[in-house]
Amino acid sequence: MSASNFLISLGQCLATMNLYAEGHPARERALDNSYERLVRQLEAQERFSVSFVGSETVVGERALSDIGAWDWAPRLASVGVERIEIDPGVTSDEYGRFVDDIWRKLNGRPDSSAEARQMVASSIRFGPLLVREVPDGGNGTEHAGVAILDAFAGALSLQDEAATVDWIHDEVSMTDRLPMGEVEAVVRSLSVAMQMEHRMLLPLLDLKRFDQYTTTHACNVSVLAMGLAERLGLGREEVRSFGVAGLLHDLGKIRIPKEILTKPGKLSDEERVIIQEHPVEGARIVLSRERGLGVAAVVAYEHHVCIDGGGYPSFRFTRNCHYASRIVHVCDIYDALCTHRPYRDAWEPEKALTYLESRAGSEVDTEITRTFCNMVRGSSPARLPMPEETATA
Ligand SMILES: [Fe+2]
Ligand SMILES: [Fe+2]
Repeated sequence: MSASNFLISLGQCLATMNLYAEGHPARERALDNSYERLVRQLEAQERFSVSFVGSETVVGERALSDIGAWDWAPRLASVGVERIEIDPGVTSDEYGRFVDDIWRKLNGRPDSSAEARQMVASSIRFGPLLVREVPDGGNGTEHAGVAILDAFAGALSLQDEAATVDWIHDEVSMTDRLPMGEVEAVVRSLSVAMQMEHRMLLPLLDLKRFDQYTTTHACNVSVLAMGLAERLGLGREEVRSFGVAGLLHDLGKIRIPKEILTKPGKLSDEERVIIQEHPVEGARIVLSRERGLGVAAVVAYEHHVCIDGGGYPSFRFTRNCHYASRIVHVCDIYDALCTHRPYRDAWEPEKALTYLESRAGSEVDTEITRTFCNMVRGSSPARLPMPEETATA
């Protein structure tokens, strides 16, 4: 009996509940069938765990290949059910309550007693993959009663996320379409990866070639922005939307010729003007492709604007930039400085942090910078060695 068979039966159960009213025999039959498959599934293991990561369904430590994209995975994830753990010995009553709980969540009718049930000992736990910091020596993290094990991290391939971002950039430049499904999926995967690491994922991705800089940088800024937003106490929705904004902040660079973007020497005045058009271009692309991406458009537009009015685009008045823009601005500078570029080597993290601190209050937001530096220093990231120079983020 495969895990896929059980998940398919769970999906059938939820679909049947959508079709038939409470008490209908079809509901009972679907539930009995699914419980039977679960019991058989549990015979082979100590505990059944499944997580929904982006478009992937991960059972234990492995992504399920035979189930393909399980339709229910994104739906469950969208209502905060990103991980389910079931112990052997689970009773049919417990399973019935669990199915009812998640069906109510899916239909916007949450049962207030369900949360209380999660707090007491139960054979089934479910919740978001929102993992907090773990003390050194711990082997997992807890949130909403859901433990995330180290091994799960092995199921993710961040190179896939980078490849998807590459594809997104190509798609925007060739078809004028911003594929939001893929953008959301990448951010979700990055969020999970970030939270499953005991230390911040830095460097998140190795820079293999210079022309991969934009891709790598987009992923790193997305992760840093989410980590920082979480550290600043923002809610789950905002953290994700800042992750999307971080991922798309330099989208306007797809319009800049590669020779200019990867030029090893000093830029001419004309080339600098072209580079400095990317915030406006990026905002234009985001706004013209999708509705509901206000924050991402604003961040694309403002992420090079300084607190004291400097930077670009330039304004005749002091612009009070969006909080998300100020967060992304800090992450953007840090990642750019710490990355090896054609025209300079990467800086060491401490040097980049000291630089940011020296710019607090003039270029970057003081409080955000302080929180960022504490976050990165607490995470002891590894980075490449360095000499002296500044960066074009
Ligand atoms: Fe930029
Ligand atoms: Fe950037």
